[in-house]
Amino acid sequence: MQYTESADKLDQQTVDQAQALKSLMEEVEAVNYYNQRAALTPNPELKELLKHNRDEEIEHAAMLIEWLRRNMEGWDEELKTYLFTSAPLLQVETGAESGGAASSASASNLGIGSLK
Ligand SMILES: [Fe+2]
Repeated sequence: MQYTESADKLDQQTVDQAQALKSLMEEVEAVNYYNQRAALTPNPELKELLKHNRDEEIEHAAMLIEWLRRNMEGWDEELKTYLFTSAPLLQVETGAESGGAASSASASNLGIGSLK
């Protein structure tokens, strides 16, 4: 593990979070590698294998994000604000910062309010 602070001074929770964050970085890097290799290879069988591997890394990244949501302050709130919305992200941010629920910003953008 690479620590930016003295590892012996970090509590176990922070060490766990550092390991999860570094792992997430590695998974995302692997997604990028596989995605580019899959795009370039002219071999169809290899392309499918690389895309399969890329998708496995996406799964691993998603699992780590969920672990972080459960175990590190800040993630739950941000993920609830931005994930699975369809409004422009800066509009979601504006809604969240003005105290409005992000879901209402995305709902109005979808025209859900007009269905009443
Ligand atoms: Fe992985």
